[in-house]
Order: sequence, then C-alpha cells, then structure tokens
Amino acid sequence: AGCTAPTGRAETPSQSSSTEHSSPEIERWLDEVPRPGVVEPVGKKDGNPYYEVEMREVEQKIHSDLPPTTVWGYDGQYPGPAIEAQQGEPVYVRWKNELPDEHLLPVDETIHSSKIPYDTTGVRVVPHLHGGNVEHTSDGKPTAWFTRDFEQTGPKFEKKDYYYVNDQPPATLWYHDHSLGITRLNVYAGLAGLYLLRNDHEESLGLPSGEYEIPLVLQDRSFNEDGSLFYPTTGSDTDSDPPKPNPSLVPQFFGDTSVVNGKAWPRLSVDPRKYRFRILNGSNCRYYNLKLFEYDEAAETTGTDGPPFTLIGNDGGLLASPVTIKDRLEIGTGKRADVVVDFSDYAGQTLLVHNDATAPYRGPDIDGGNQQPLPEIMVVEVASDDVRDPSRVPDTLTEVPEIPVDSVDKERYLPMTMSSDDYGRPLHLLGSDAESSPHKLYDPVTEKPTLNDTEIWSFANLTGMSHPMHMHLVHFQMLGRQPYSEYDPEAEMIDVESLEPPTPEETGWNDVINVNPGEVTHVIVYFGEFEGLFSNQTGWYMWHCHMLEHEDHDMMRPFRVLPDSEDDNSDGDSSNEL
Ligand code: C2O
Ligand code: CU
Repeated sequence: AGCTAPTGRAETPSQSSSTEHSSPEIERWLDEVPRPGVVEPVGKKDGNPYYEVEMREVEQKIHSDLPPTTVWGYDGQYPGPAIEAQQGEPVYVRWKNELPDEHLLPVDETIHSSKIPYDTTGVRVVPHLHGGNVEHTSDGKPTAWFTRDFEQTGPKFEKKDYYYVNDQPPATLWYHDHSLGITRLNVYAGLAGLYLLRNDHEESLGLPSGEYEIPLVLQDRSFNEDGSLFYPTTGSDTDSDPPKPNPSLVPQFFGDTSVVNGKAWPRLSVDPRKYRFRILNGSNCRYYNLKLFEYDEAAETTGTDGPPFTLIGNDGGLLASPVTIKDRLEIGTGKRADVVVDFSDYAGQTLLVHNDATAPYRGPDIDGGNQQPLPEIMVVEVASDDVRDPSRVPDTLTEVPEIPVDSVDKERYLPMTMSSDDYGRPLHLLGSDAESSPHKLYDPVTEKPTLNDTEIWSFANLTGMSHPMHMHLVHFQMLGRQPYSEYDPEAEMIDVESLEPPTPEETGWNDVINVNPGEVTHVIVYFGEFEGLFSNQTGWYMWHCHMLEHEDHDMMRPFRVLPDSEDDNSDGDSSNEL
C-alpha cells in the first residue's frame, strides 16, 4: 500500500527536555485526596438543566509544602467540578471564558502557525465533551474557539450554549479544553473535569455509591520552587532554518510529580469496605499501569500484593460483567477505568497505588523509550474499625450489544507515520486509505462515513512509539490487533479470529485505543443510533492521538458524518475544510 515498514528505535522522538528539570522535594502522602466539586445548574433552558461554567485563573494549594500554584480552573477549580447528568435528560452548558489576556504558559507560534490566530486579544478556549455523543455544533472542535466574552470566535464557532443530548449509556465522560494548537497548554494549566452520566439501571445495581464512589483524576505535573507550574521549552534554536522563535513544543511531556484530583502525592483514607473509583487518565502523555501493594510508610517499602481491581466499566460505560484485574490495570492517555476495590481484608493497613508504565513505548524494537517513570501515585490508608458494607458487584452489569462484523460497509486503512516539520521537529501524522500520503490537520477531510453505516477503522502504527487513538462522537468496539507484517490492506475482509483479542480494559465501549508500534489495531464503529443506544448525528468531528503534544502538532484529522444521501454537501456545509 505504498508504506514503509516500521523502523522502530530510529524513529523514536528525541528526549524531552523535561528530564532536565526537577520539581522541588516535597513530602509524600501528606495531603488528603480532595473530592472534585459538583456544578449545580443555574436554571432551566427549554425545560432542561442549564449550567454556567466560568474559566478563571486562580491560586490553588497543590501541596501543603508548596507555595500556591496559579492554575486555570473551570469555575475556578482544578480539576474542574463534575457535571452530573442523567441518561435521557439533555443539559445546556454555557462555558464562559474569564481567563486573563496572557497565557499562563509559553505558547509556541511555530505549530501550523499560518492557520492559528495567535494574535487574538485574550486566550482562546473551546471546551470539548470527551466521549460525548453530541451534535457537532456542541462538540467543541478545535476551530470553534472563543476568547473572553466571546469577543472573537473561530471559523467553526456556532453558538454559546452547548447542548448535550445524553442519549448514550451511563459513563465516566470528561470535559477538557481543545483549543487549536494550545490544547496541551490549556489542559496542563488545569482545564479538565469529569462529566458523570448516570441512569436508573446503574443505580439499581447496588454498586458502592455516595461517599463510597470517588472520582480520581490522575495527572502528572512538574513545579518550580515558587510553586508555579513548570512546562518545558525546547530552548531557542537559531541554527535551524527557519529559526525557532518561541518553541514550547516538546515532543512529549512527562511530569515528575503525581497529582490526583489536584493534590500532589496525596493520601486517601478509606473504610475497610468496597469503594467505586472513577479513574481518569487526564495526563498530557503519560500511560498508567496500576497495581496496589501493601506499604510500610515509615520504611518506604512495598510488601505483598494488595487487593485487585474489579473492572466494571471503561470509556463508554459499564462492561457486560466485571473482570478481576490482579496484575496491572492499564489506563492509556485520555482513558477511564471504572473499578471497585474491596478493602475489607486490609483493615488498619496502608496500600500504595503503584504505576509501572513505561509506555507509551511498547512493542518490538522499543527500549522503554523516554517516558520518565512515575512509580508512586498515591497511598490508601484503610481504617481499622469494622463497617457494614451493603454494596455489591453483580455478575451481570449491563448488556453490551456487539456491532456485527458481517454488516461492515467500509474498512479504512489508516497509517500513522513519522515525518518532520519545517523546524526539523518530529511530526506524527495520520493517513487515509483514499491516498497514500499522510495528511495534516488542514488537508481536506477524507474520512466521510455515512450515517447508519458500520465501518472498521484499522490504525496501522508505522512510527516508533505507541499512540492512544481517539475518535469524537462515537464509542467503538475493539476487534483486535495484529503485526503489521501480517496485515493485508487489499484483503476483502480482516479475519477477526486471527487477531490478538482485546484486553479486559479494551472490551465494551471505547473512545480511545492504544495502538502499538508495528501493529495494526482494528476497531468497529457504528455511526448512528445502535440498538437503542447513542444518537444520530451528522457533521464535523475529530479523530486524533490523545497525547496532547502530538494532537497539537498535526496528529489530528477531521472526519465528517454525512447524512444518508449520495450528496457530500447535503448537510448544508459546502466547505471541505476544517
Ligand atoms: Cu479528549 Cu479530541 O479529545
Ligand atoms: Cu501520538
């Protein structure tokens, strides 16, 4: 298909300069994990709950030994407060930009700069509901940005009040900024929060709830001595042609400090009973592989295994049945894991949440790569007094109807390749089966599924590192993966039986999937309402790598769902450009 074989190590991007910075030494396990706030509606619009969420710059104590950190928060909170919604009950949200005129972090004007309006008065934002099955005018696409008081708006900005239809299975969704070319900086500054969609069926299952259901937003950050956020710059390079004027674009970012719900190296106090944790990997690039160990805090040593994770859901909602994960719980960038942990056998003990992910570098020819390890995430202190625990995890959680492979209308071969930009920086690009050359963000849209079609998207990773691939609008099902050398893009149909099957974390409904180097990962997607789940939507959406540094740097493409008609432009949008 006109593609070269993966070359592995040679294509691994060079070391990020975050390795040269060390955050101040701060005592671990000092502060309690805070619970993110919850936003209350301010009224009704068309009979539905109406929210107003203001983005503001605030000072926040990330750690008791650190001076306050200036962050950007939704409603002035980092992470943002959770929006609690019910399936079948739409909500409206007006996202208001009250941020200062200057960016908190160094902006890099050399990323597809001809198209990015770096000269706006005030900072551009656009909130995206990640995992939201929403109409495209409420999706928060990168070109729908707006500045303070909506003074200036992007080419695809259409309205102030976003409408979330909530016609999808209950799930741990999240919202975060998606502004063109500065997503990594806006999210790093703090613009991310949870959106919890619930329904009566889920309530009736008897899972741990109320104070025993705890969201955990996992992120990595680095700090300066004065408490401010550290984000690396690549340093100016006057030798490159053209010279790099203000380069903050590192190939990948990895922070050296674990931050959970906005607290650095925190501790969580629990009772000896079952808890439900809604875990979000909200880091820019980092992957997490989590496991609990018994922990001796004074000696700082780990002992034997702690309790396993019982995985009950992931990106798009509950799994059909729970899966016990004794080994590592993998949570790729942007993904969610809905787990129950039973602490009843650990009364009076302390546990360490340990992370051994060296990904995103996995697969052949990869030597562990340049992800800085972050082995310690948080500790959990289990109280010693006995408690009553009426909660349970039923054997059947929900029905997850399978998208039938024999009804596929189209298979898309989507090669991911390495290149370099005008400044010689590594550039990861997404291709299309329509043409063999890779595409940048602004090339005309090539992925145009038709409403109510079933498609297989086959991501072929020809770069030297793993990438977490994300699609807006839909939740897909993972079919499996195979070595690139065994994949035949010309074949009539892939042989699903011959693929390496999904991991437990990849069953059910996903919106991000890990694609390893040298592999082809196949997902099956239904564009429209499926078995009474999800809604019919047409229009413009994005698919991209969820490593935010990659996404900002052209590893993002539009797709467009066409109405059920032969005419490309029957959705009333005659342009073929983002
Ligand atoms: Cu979580 Cu397009 O993003
Ligand atoms: Cu990537």
